[in-house]
Amino acid sequence: MEFATGALGTLLLKLAQLLHGEYRLQKNVRKNIEFLKKELEFTHAALLNVGEVPPEQLKEVVRIWARDARELSYDMEDVVDSFLVRVHGPDPPSKRSSKRFIQKMKGLLTISKRHQIGEQIEDIKQRVVEVAARRDRYKVDIISRVATLDPRVTALYAKATELIGLNEAREELLMLLAKKGDMSAEQQRIVSIVGFGGLGKTTLAKAVFEELKLQFDCTAFVTVSRSPDIKKFLKDMLYELDRQKYGNIHSTSLDVKHLIDQARGFLQNKRYFVIIDDIWDISNWEIIKYSLPDDNSGCSIVTTTRNFTVAKHIGGEYKMRPLSLENSRLLLYRRIFGDEDSGKYLDKELAEVSDRILKKCAGVPLAITTIGSLLARKARNKVEWYEVYNSIGTGMENNLDAENMRKILSYSYYDLPSRLRTCLLYFSIFPEDCEIETSRLIRLWVAEGFIPCEEQGKSQFEVGESHFNELINRSLIQPLYIDDGGKIFCCHVHDMVLDLIRSLSSAENFVTILSDMDYKVASTTIRRLSVQNGKVDHPLTQGTRSMPQVRSVVVFASTLDQMPTLQSLKVLRVLDLQGCDLSHGYSLKYLGNLFHLRYLGLSDTSIPELPEEVGNLQFLESLNVWGTEISCLPLTVAQLKKLMYLRVQPRVRVSNWIGNLTSLEALSVLHIHDELMNTVEVLGLLTKLRVLHIWLSSEWNDKLVDFIGKLRKIKSLRITSWDKLRTTSADESRCNIGDLDAWVPPGCLRRLDTISVYTFARLPVWMNPSYLLDLSQLSITVRELQQKDIDILGRLPALRCLSLVVDHEDREIHRRLVVAAGSFPCLVRCNLWGFVQPLMFRQGAMPSLTLLQFTIHARKAREIAGGDGGFGLENLPSLQKALVNVGSEGVSKEDVEEAKVVLKQATEIHHNHPILRIFD
Ligand SMILES: *[C@@H]1O[C@H](CO)[C@@H](O)[C@H](O)[C@H]1NC(C)=O
Ligand SMILES: *[C@@H]1O[C@H](CO)[C@@H](O)[C@H](O)[C@H]1NC(C)=O
Ligand SMILES: *[C@@H]1O[C@H](CO)[C@@H](O)[C@H](O)[C@H]1NC(C)=O
Repeated sequence: MEFATGALGTLLLKLAQLLHGEYRLQKNVRKNIEFLKKELEFTHAALLNVGEVPPEQLKEVVRIWARDARELSYDMEDVVDSFLVRVHGPDPPSKRSSKRFIQKMKGLLTISKRHQIGEQIEDIKQRVVEVAARRDRYKVDIISRVATLDPRVTALYAKATELIGLNEAREELLMLLAKKGDMSAEQQRIVSIVGFGGLGKTTLAKAVFEELKLQFDCTAFVTVSRSPDIKKFLKDMLYELDRQKYGNIHSTSLDVKHLIDQARGFLQNKRYFVIIDDIWDISNWEIIKYSLPDDNSGCSIVTTTRNFTVAKHIGGEYKMRPLSLENSRLLLYRRIFGDEDSGKYLDKELAEVSDRILKKCAGVPLAITTIGSLLARKARNKVEWYEVYNSIGTGMENNLDAENMRKILSYSYYDLPSRLRTCLLYFSIFPEDCEIETSRLIRLWVAEGFIPCEEQGKSQFEVGESHFNELINRSLIQPLYIDDGGKIFCCHVHDMVLDLIRSLSSAENFVTILSDMDYKVASTTIRRLSVQNGKVDHPLTQGTRSMPQVRSVVVFASTLDQMPTLQSLKVLRVLDLQGCDLSHGYSLKYLGNLFHLRYLGLSDTSIPELPEEVGNLQFLESLNVWGTEISCLPLTVAQLKKLMYLRVQPRVRVSNWIGNLTSLEALSVLHIHDELMNTVEVLGLLTKLRVLHIWLSSEWNDKLVDFIGKLRKIKSLRITSWDKLRTTSADESRCNIGDLDAWVPPGCLRRLDTISVYTFARLPVWMNPSYLLDLSQLSITVRELQQKDIDILGRLPALRCLSLVVDHEDREIHRRLVVAAGSFPCLVRCNLWGFVQPLMFRQGAMPSLTLLQFTIHARKAREIAGGDGGFGLENLPSLQKALVNVGSEGVSKEDVEEAKVVLKQATEIHHNHPILRIFD
């Protein structure tokens, strides 16, 4: 919304808000605002239409008008926001200030009316009607799909499709790496994967990395990218090579030479395997090369690049081939239908047009998946499909051509509804190859006003999540890491997509990037600034010191040389300094003047304290001070009535003022100490909480349970403490003082972790598979567990990660509990502690389980091996890894060794040959 229409979307909402009775504005002010609103509604509608048309198809005059109107809307919003600051402030706006406000707004409006271009707008409208009509036909469709979309499936889905056609390449590459070693074992083995963007070079390198990494002493997978920071690259590499030794490497100030020496020293006489992804320049390789000693045998280096000259120079060129037509079809059909076989039932005409489309894609997987995601939304008829085909242009088929790819990606972009286009464009604020944390991204969207309102009882954040999922589903962004609950925790944008949105966003003055590379600056007014490793002599820097109109500053550089002073950022909405070193130097002195601030990201900045003036930021929604030196928050934080997200380390002690933050939706970590526990009822107004992580240093009690009972929107509840996880018996004194057994969580619960602080007497009755449909992570302690309880847990439809402690003391369960075939359908990880008798797995139980961890006493292990049923590990079809803690109390060393042998045998008969780790 924002991209096409500047700030008009949110501006109109704010004007409507001002008209709302509660502000008691003078009558003529109201009338004037109504007038403004009507005028702006027209502009809004016209801009929406303009946004439907790719810029190159717009008449110059329209483009200029649209640009000016957008810029203007930003200025107007700043004026309205400043007025709102007054309205919300201690002194209600006086007649004079109201009048000034109206005058300013009207003054701005006349500028916009000077451009009279009604006719051209009509013209565009005509052309857009077609597009809009087409969109309308699918609108219902799109919305209903979004509602039911399951990100977990998406993630798995993306994984499976990625490898089509890559197996062959992977085998070739493995051969190449092995063969080279045979010929001259003394040599360093280098393979340089080269090919067009979007062919899957990185995916291939990753697959080879996964396959081989266990055979080497040390490994690293590091990305260089287009505007490399060689120091950061070397630090990343050292960190990857040995996370323990180089855990703090990023905060050291070593120069390139020293880092190279470090790396050489570390790698000397080790068999190492390093992947260097995305090299753009020979000169970069020349530096990197020095850090990799080549005087020892058995090392391997794999690089990827798009540039053939670079690959030749590195040596060991491996040309990445496009997918064959056959594999292209497999990939396309799988994307459209969910499995490749359905393609066989396409009628002749559809098969023909899909082959034609595939020729345009030239075997580039990125293009194929993007188009496939788009076709999946269309009706299965040839008219629709030909329309897609024609829109991406005819001619130039089977040609690996940048312009071709751009057309395909650009078509997918314009197929997005405008709200999603804005969200996608925002990715241009992130540097290339950046790993983007999903929750940070969505909170930024919210703070930027891209998600103007709540929908159907969903919070803005949740609406943002559904936007995110839709972009993933359309293959415009890609999942990177999946968390234990099956959610995409980190994502990234492909370079090709990034190039496209960067050019669009720079043309519309959406984001201005300050980096080593030159990007054309469309306007002298900077609205959003992304500081990426800018050098002091950058042409933009003269201007960056004072930027009165900047609304967002997101910094990715480790230094703040390029940072404008806070004093000058009068209308700032977003300030994200995550990861910058603020331990000394940069001052937050003027923070309190940033009245419009919505988002303050200070995580991992080592900043020593938060200024008192933070309390002035009455619109602040997000505050993250994780990974800092801050040990206490100023009391003024209690005044942040709109704060929705607060993240602090457990050592930050808050007291009962936290109960004043009634807008909070996510709070971690809340340290509940004795003093806060005594007045824990003051938290009773925090009923909007969706995510809560409590760190308990006080005794569990019933007041806490009362508080928890009030959280009717809670999705993730974790209560943890310092206590080491008890692997044997639970502490009796903690049980049932304050009864969580009687609590009934809301049905939307996704994650519950009380394993180290509370013992349920038995599996609570609310643990009901037809009630807790979303529960995906469960970590609990239960005193007694019966067969029917295992059956119930096994039917929880979304459960992916289970940690279960049974407190067996004096209640030895004599019967082995059975896990039935097909039960725990989604479970991926399972940890079981305190079971005297291990579970008995029937054939096909826990079909998705990859990791199993359990405790067993040595004596029992031998018994089980001899008795019927054995361990039954071979019945878990997907098992990859088993971690076993063997108890040795009261038995000899030999007995323990024997138990280990028995366990080894149990895993050896498994067809996956899972990795077994035994701890005693
Ligand atoms: C994504 O959207 C398509 C088309 O709307 C839908 O059929 C599909 O189930 C979704 N895919 C996934 C994996 O979520
Ligand atoms: C490839 O790299 C070489 C050497 O760094 C450079 O001169 C050339 O411009 C690059 N080619 C492209 C297409 O970027
Ligand atoms: C919290 O809110 C109460 C009631 O509005 C107020 O009296 C109190 O001063 C507030 N606490 C802080 C620390 O601002």
